[in-house]
Amino acid sequence: MDNILTHVENSILTITINRPDKLNALSTATIQELHDALQGATSNNNIRAIVITGSGDKAFIAGADIAEFSNFTAPQGETLSRNGHKILFDFVENFNKPVIAAINGFALGGGLELALCCHIRIASDNAKMGFPELNLGVIPGYGGTQRLAQLVGKGKAMELILTTDMVNAEEAFQLKLVNIVTTKENLLTKAYEIATKIISKSPRAIATAIKAINANYKDGVNGFEVEIKEFGNCFDTADFKEGVGAFLEKRKPNFTGE
Ligand code: COA
Repeated sequence: MDNILTHVENSILTITINRPDKLNALSTATIQELHDALQGATSNNNIRAIVITGSGDKAFIAGADIAEFSNFTAPQGETLSRNGHKILFDFVENFNKPVIAAINGFALGGGLELALCCHIRIASDNAKMGFPELNLGVIPGYGGTQRLAQLVGKGKAMELILTTDMVNAEEAFQLKLVNIVTTKENLLTKAYEIATKIISKSPRAIATAIKAINANYKDGVNGFEVEIKEFGNCFDTADFKEGVGAFLEKRKPNFTGE
């Protein structure tokens, strides 16, 4: 992996985008490496949660790599977007383990779009977020026009995308764009604290909850129906039997994710 660093500790995989001299811009190679690292984590039982962050003290990710697409034609642009949706952005949103964005600086364009796909966003107090695409004559192409509105509402999404104004961490918190703001020094500690809390629950139920919550945002899918079906499916799982058994026996559950 040339563009990312990975590290597993306490069942948490930390992925650090490692192009600090380019403010961790998302090149196609970086997107592919992120996909590969996540793909490897899907079936690895030693990994129960993922934290994504950026290297250096300036940026989480300053967007898609502008130099790379500067000469693209329309079909190439469409392919770039479609492939990115498939292998990274939709992939993260629908991931079967919790993915937390630890936003340690600029999260712009594709960087903010990646944070929007994550299940939880934690920002350091120096973070700045926004969609500068309209300054370049393009629009957000990795889901930003859809997912920003889902989190902050259509009116604010229009304002942020059309003006390209950046918001700081506190403003992002007020907008519900990020879940938590903390200091730069405490960012990863906070991310690990949340990840650790989540992974004490049933892995099977975590994956199912992510699926059911996401169902509300999928065209042609009835989220309530997904919830009803998935709720029912839980009753046939080993995790359900273990969770209920542990409660009745007044002990801590030992979930296997089955
Ligand atoms: N793609 C490619 N390279 C990028 C990049 C991006 N999205 N964002 C930053 N870089 C590169 C710069 O070109 C520069 O490289 P160089 O030293 O080889 O010239 C390096 O990262 C440092 O960036 P620089 O602009 O010098 O830092 P700054 O502190 O002056 O400004 C930003 C920081 C984030 C305001 C500025 O880099 C910026 O506007 N980046 C583009 C953001 C953007 O439009 N993202 C959406 C892309 S669709």
